[in-house]
Amino acid sequence: MSPTSSLLLAFVFAAVGLSQTIDEYIESERPIAKAGVLANIGPGEKSGGAVDGVVVASPSDSDPDYLYTWTRDSSLVFKGLIDEFTLGVDDSLEGQIQNFVSAEAQQQQVSNPSGDVSSGGLGEPKFNIDLSAFTDAWGRPQRDGPALRATALITYGNYLLDGGNSSYVTDTLWPIVQLDLDYVVEYWEQSGFDLWEEVQGSSFFTTAVQHRSLREGATFATAVGQDDLASTYSTTADSVLCFLQSYWNDGEGFITANVGQRSGIDANPALASIHTFDAEAGCDAVTFQPCSDKALSNLKVYVDAFRDIYTINADAGETDPVATGRYPEDTYYSGNPWYLTTAAVAEQLYDALIVWKAQESIEVTDISLAFFQQFVSDITADTYDSSSDTYTTLIDAIQDWADGFILIDAKYTPDDGSLAEQYTRDEGTPTSAADLTWSYAAILTAFNARDGVIPDSWGASGLTASC
Ligand code: NOJ
Ligand code: NOJ
Repeated sequence: MSPTSSLLLAFVFAAVGLSQTIDEYIESERPIAKAGVLANIGPGEKSGGAVDGVVVASPSDSDPDYLYTWTRDSSLVFKGLIDEFTLGVDDSLEGQIQNFVSAEAQQQQVSNPSGDVSSGGLGEPKFNIDLSAFTDAWGRPQRDGPALRATALITYGNYLLDGGNSSYVTDTLWPIVQLDLDYVVEYWEQSGFDLWEEVQGSSFFTTAVQHRSLREGATFATAVGQDDLASTYSTTADSVLCFLQSYWNDGEGFITANVGQRSGIDANPALASIHTFDAEAGCDAVTFQPCSDKALSNLKVYVDAFRDIYTINADAGETDPVATGRYPEDTYYSGNPWYLTTAAVAEQLYDALIVWKAQESIEVTDISLAFFQQFVSDITADTYDSSSDTYTTLIDAIQDWADGFILIDAKYTPDDGSLAEQYTRDEGTPTSAADLTWSYAAILTAFNARDGVIPDSWGASGLTASC
């Protein structure tokens, strides 16, 4: 092809990309993302020979080598699949889910550099894909993994209990869940590496998912006749919820991701908010629900932190959606936007829309005022019910704003629909790990939230932090 005609073709493709609507993107991307997730789970076609049910982070085996299994990625990916199965979005997934259960049961027992099953080994972040221990130097332990795995398995367990299948739950699921929850009880007060595997200390995402796991773990323990443990989990959950409050930076209106590290502005709290979403809790700020004033204020601060640092955001207006990354100071692969963090912004907003529509009102407080002023510049702190023009204006504007973040990921999705980990800050070219399982899972959960799919409640409603 001549340089002129390939240039012309590139121009045509770019034009097509730009005019893509949200519905077109979802329609084309959804099956690709779903296939992308499943291909990366053993024995899937890109899983590199992983044990059945083992999720590889990415098939990429060099620059970067992600052909390992991380407890965090695997648990988040399977929570998405378990939700799709239990909520009736996809009834074909149960075999995969049971493979995952077996793989995790096996992995828990593997002695590793963080310890063995009863001496801290559950905090090991990553394993080889044959489930042997990974023994090189790494940022370990990471204490979000056991909590996230417990949450995924409890969701499946509750579904089985509802259907009257208690033997698989008590014999197979409960022992795995108990190990993870006991780990959380024993270690939640100790420092560990954050979800980005870089800084050691206390991290909001970790504390938030630990709290959730203990809260739903208490109910689950009761359901399987373990009343004493239920009481331990619930008492510990109260302490964790109290600690969770300390991450809020009142002066600057954001949630400090990692205590005492960098600016503290990070995708971590938005990810925590979507992964601890409980529609029954409304816009509760104690658990930092997606529509809570604190989580919305945080979201604005987080998004704004990326406006000036990425070249690809340069043409965006002051309040337009932009590509976001892990945290503004990031230098990993030169520090770029991530598909999954940009999708998380949209998902937090879709979750918020679900609740505002259900409760037929939107509350604007002094804390969330700056967030809402992006859509109605002269808005004041008040409650706007669904009969008001302001309510309608906000719902429509925030729906468009949320879609705008998905459309940014869409703009930088190549024609074949594949999602890497990142796209470059200057050009928007996919970079770092190709076919990142978590990227695919994140776009799918955002699509489901946009469709109004509501994950099961985990008991966030009506909690108070008594410190
Ligand atoms: C690999 C980790 O997975 C990633 O999160 C981190 O940014 C780099 N190492 C650099 O520390
Ligand atoms: C690097 C990310 O920072 C970390 O969160 C993730 O677990 C690994 N890559 C594997 O995807």
